[in-house]
Amino acid sequence: MLLKIVKASAFVALAACTLSANSFNAQAEKDKTELIKYFEAKFADPEKNAATFFPYSTEDELKNNIKKDIKHMDFGIGNYAFNRAGIATYEEIKEMPPYEDAIDAGAALYEKKFANGNSLAICFPDPTIGGDYPMFDESRKEVVSLTQAVNECITSNGEKKWNEKKGDMAKFQAFIANSTKEAEKKVNVKIESAEAAAAYERGKEFYYTQRGYLNLSCATCHVQGAAQRVRNESLSQLLGHTTHFPVYRLKWQGLGTLERRMEGCVKDQGQNPPKPSSKTMKELLYFMAYMSNGMAVDGPDIRK
Ligand code: HEC
Repeated sequence: MLLKIVKASAFVALAACTLSANSFNAQAEKDKTELIKYFEAKFADPEKNAATFFPYSTEDELKNNIKKDIKHMDFGIGNYAFNRAGIATYEEIKEMPPYEDAIDAGAALYEKKFANGNSLAICFPDPTIGGDYPMFDESRKEVVSLTQAVNECITSNGEKKWNEKKGDMAKFQAFIANSTKEAEKKVNVKIESAEAAAAYERGKEFYYTQRGYLNLSCATCHVQGAAQRVRNESLSQLLGHTTHFPVYRLKWQGLGTLERRMEGCVKDQGQNPPKPSSKTMKELLYFMAYMSNGMAVDGPDIRK
């Protein structure tokens, strides 16, 4: 009898859990579906759809440089998804990727013992979790980024925390991204409570809010503006933006985390960037990662 009750209540708990998981992410799922639809429509035939989607691009650009018929999963490689001019150089560099050593160094950091005998491998027994972050920690009721989780592991073992933008942090994340890629896993960010949904909404609001003296939002450049030229850059699309970090940037002559990349973009917007592990930054990344849910993790990567 007791067993029966336990079983029945376990079943109820499970059902309630699935039910709420489905409903708390309903808005995010709707947003993601709309975003995919938007970008697939935009890049179905840029030349034909110029008036609707590319009012600022030249005819030559649309005819000769922007690829058409791009589908959801193709968007994971940033502006190389559509930008013919950039693809050749990109593929050339990828033949001798400058981040290979960083992956090896990251693997060594994973195993390396702290003074107390523990290691990152003990905090992260499964290194193929690159697609699960940022995650909403239901007991702490806050978004936890991979960067934060790594530093919490280190400091809780009595070590000094790492720079959140480069160095060992970027190397370790290169190892995590690569392990996740080799396991063929996808971005898999979850929204399973009202608090998680609220964090997602705040991240989304940050993304779409116009700010700075130029009155730009992230979306001005990376949704409506995607494929538009800014100086000698082609603006990439929000869809797939978090799949490939950390990246080796030619400009940096080194590897950097997603937080490091964010800093440059927010500054370009004429704003002071939120700190890498601030609530604002983590919720922004949570929203962005959700938009990439279901896409392959394929970091580390290279960028100009
Ligand atoms: C003035 C236009 C502009 C604004 C506004 C802007 N960015 Fe960017 N962003 C760029 C340019 C240019 C690049 C480099 C080319 C590219 O990959 O898009 C870039 C690159 C990025 C990348 C790296 C893409 C990759 O594949 O490596 C991310 C992620 C990103 N931006 C996110 C954001 C976020 C989030 C915001 C808002 C806080 C934002 N950007 C605001 C212009 C902008």
